[in-house]
Amino acid sequence: MLHKKKKISELEDAQKGHSSTYSTRYFSKPIPKYEIPENEMPANAAYQLVHDELNMDGNPALNLASFCTTWMEPEAEKLIAENNNKNFIDHDEYPQTEIIHERLVNMMARLFNAPDDCDSVGTATIGSSEAIMLGLLAHKWTWKNKRKTENKPYDKPNIVFGNDVHICWDKFARYFDVEPRIVPMEKDRFILSVSEVEKRVDENTICVGTILGTTFTGQHDPIEEINDLLLKIKQEKGWDIPIHVDAASGGFIAPFIYPDLKWDFRLEQVRSINVSGHKYGLVYPGLGWLIFRDEKDVPKDIVFTVNYLGGKMPTYTLNFSRGGATVIGQYYNFLRLGKAGYTRIMSNITENAKYLAEKLLKTEYFESLNPTQLLPVVAVKLKNNENFTLYELTDKLREKGWIMPAYSLPANAEEIVIMRIVVRENFSRDMCDILYEDIVEAYNDLKNKN
Ligand SMILES: Cc1ncc(COP(=O)(O)O)c(C=O)c1O
Repeated sequence: MLHKKKKISELEDAQKGHSSTYSTRYFSKPIPKYEIPENEMPANAAYQLVHDELNMDGNPALNLASFCTTWMEPEAEKLIAENNNKNFIDHDEYPQTEIIHERLVNMMARLFNAPDDCDSVGTATIGSSEAIMLGLLAHKWTWKNKRKTENKPYDKPNIVFGNDVHICWDKFARYFDVEPRIVPMEKDRFILSVSEVEKRVDENTICVGTILGTTFTGQHDPIEEINDLLLKIKQEKGWDIPIHVDAASGGFIAPFIYPDLKWDFRLEQVRSINVSGHKYGLVYPGLGWLIFRDEKDVPKDIVFTVNYLGGKMPTYTLNFSRGGATVIGQYYNFLRLGKAGYTRIMSNITENAKYLAEKLLKTEYFESLNPTQLLPVVAVKLKNNENFTLYELTDKLREKGWIMPAYSLPANAEEIVIMRIVVRENFSRDMCDILYEDIVEAYNDLKNKN
């Protein structure tokens, strides 16, 4: 969020500072809220004040709006705490962290079926947004370099993706000055359509963006069919248009429970993939991954070499410093769980999502929007024309602590309002039953009161 500097003189006293009636054992004067206090305070007092303030946040375990990990094992938390003081970029100073980073990139490239005859490269990022920006920037530069060598204009790049993308795709287009050619949703289609992609690509298309598990309904774009289309175009017109797969959530689901689904480097035009370690990678925020099919997909002129920290170091990231502890958390999870552990967890959460969806649909109160979803996401709309909205229903559920979003879909499906429940590892079958009871109760309360 972008925040504004407040005009302190216009604030009421209670807004200006924590009043002295708060925790009087510690405080005799108000503590300012919007400027740094003049004096110190004891560590335990500062801890108590901040700790108590944060009680106003929702309970992460009941946050069904987010894909991000809200629980890790104590051993993982211990490793994270032990490594919180390391700056990830200091590779010379923390060489073992960098060795682990390299191993993780290798593990991820193999998970995504990078071909043996390619020299795949990749990096950890702060999240999927940074990974997507870097992936798309590389494709923009590859396109630009090719156009330059062909003596063709390179001032009008475009990118094709669906309205089912996360906001970070629109951000990329605006921040990096690339024309977005967006395929709208329809009332009965919430993912990309191959024929709509075909209408929009041309010789200036730097990339086609596809999603493995959309933020809206958890479905996936027809990636294999789009690959076929781009292969045909390459053969007929000579345009070699890469695909970037945004596998922010699906990248840790599909390889384990849908291994036959072709969406990754098995498809020739798929040149880059991002995935969020902090979603179904089961690590706390912020960790993303970006993997390129081949080092040729990253033009040399956008990789910088710095020597500030000792040895020479190539870097391709937007931010320089970042915490390294989440990378260690990812390594712990891979070693601890192995493929069998990830498969078991992903199967369990998918079963729990199906269980909850089936129960909700049986009530005849709701209609499913994603009967074929890839992600463990329950996305429903009201079946009947009720005297209340899903916004009111989710507000009512908040009274019980459940945090669930209701939102309208993007164009051209904007009149559809949906309620989305993201099922994660710490959402047990028992919690499914409790949530189900609470939804039914809230629904009937609203129906009878309005
Ligand atoms: C499909 C998809 N892409 C990208 C993102 C952005 O990821 P991050 O929050 O890791 O930057 C999200 C986040 O929910 C997502 O669902």
